[in-house]
Amino acid sequence: MKTEDIVKLYKEYVMPTYTQVPLVLVKGKGAKVWDIEEREYLDFFPGWAVSGLGHCHPMVVSAIKKQAGKIFHVSNNYYGELQGVLAQKIIKSSFPGKVFFANSGAEANECAIKLARRYGNKDGRYEIITMAGSFHGRTMATISATGQDKVKIGFAPLLEGFKHVPFNDIVALKNAVTDKTIAVMLEPIQGEGGVNVADREYLKSVRGLCNDKDMLLIFDEVQTGMGRCGNIFCYQNYDIAPDVMTLAKSLGSGVPIGAAVASERVAYTLPPSSHASTFGGSPICSSAAIATFEAIEKENLLENAVKMGEYIRKKLKNLKKKYPFIKEIKGIALMIGVELDIDGEEIYKECLKRGLLINCTQKKVLRIMPPLTVKKGEVNKAVSILDDIFSKV
Ligand SMILES: Cc1ncc(COP(=O)(O)O)c(C=O)c1O
Repeated sequence: MKTEDIVKLYKEYVMPTYTQVPLVLVKGKGAKVWDIEEREYLDFFPGWAVSGLGHCHPMVVSAIKKQAGKIFHVSNNYYGELQGVLAQKIIKSSFPGKVFFANSGAEANECAIKLARRYGNKDGRYEIITMAGSFHGRTMATISATGQDKVKIGFAPLLEGFKHVPFNDIVALKNAVTDKTIAVMLEPIQGEGGVNVADREYLKSVRGLCNDKDMLLIFDEVQTGMGRCGNIFCYQNYDIAPDVMTLAKSLGSGVPIGAAVASERVAYTLPPSSHASTFGGSPICSSAAIATFEAIEKENLLENAVKMGEYIRKKLKNLKKKYPFIKEIKGIALMIGVELDIDGEEIYKECLKRGLLINCTQKKVLRIMPPLTVKKGEVNKAVSILDDIFSKV
């Protein structure tokens, strides 16, 4: 089959909910992918940050193969061999507490929202404050939580009890709290919102506010987690911890897995039968996520994320000096936003033509999120493609 045959099949049989470019990817290795016509691309936005270790990391491939020969699925009314091991890895690398496993970022956030509601139930509090520009998923609860109107169009009535305030504005947040507020939910770095980094002082004040008012602080680390920001979780770049943290995307290096992590204080808020997911924490997905943790540790990938993050940032800052339409280089470590004064969509399309896969969000922010395994040579190649495109603007 060729690209046009596959696109035709989609057009006939797949719901057209995605904006798609006609590119059929069939193979990946590290930071490279190949399309069905065997063209090679440098993937600096692998699977929307899902393939954090790059494509087909050998440790993950081997873990999945091994598990597939034993058992695919164990229902959650029995015990599997691996779910507990994975939960232990997550807890040992974050804060004391317990983990609920789901299959996606939206579902991990659903669990966090239900947990907050249940926690507030004893004194009639249910309101959750989230941030303008945030993105928390596409289920009804998570579009209600998301602070962007575009995800809500045509889906009213939404779930009640969500309020949005400007990001990085502690006064606005304080003013929005009422006697019904139970939680504050935010991404330490807004991804879809344009790679907007939370200020250090702001997050500290949010933590303080949540302590004072006995509210839960929920960090959505679906995109920022698993080493992308130089620590295993992004919040570790700040001197505070959340009460609840959600994960997905690169947790399983490409297999569908999400997790909601609850600190000890709230770890028993959802009792048996109050929440569930048929596939949550399945052996196959757990094996991939355990291998992901092991690969990060074995190959010192946090160190590489910091080192390569600095390297690419330095190069992008040089481009900023050369091209006045580059406004700002944003983000932490390998979560990078290049904010432009010009149309980023056109730059994104040009990159695609030249074999570089990146993303453009909010029309003007190029999102560059190479795998944690990225090498200097690959960074050099990507930046020189960008340089060449910028020089013709
Ligand atoms: C911060 C954040 N939260 C939640 C989600 C939703 O994740 P999923 O698409 O796996 O449901 C995303 C997806 O982009 C995200 O970036």
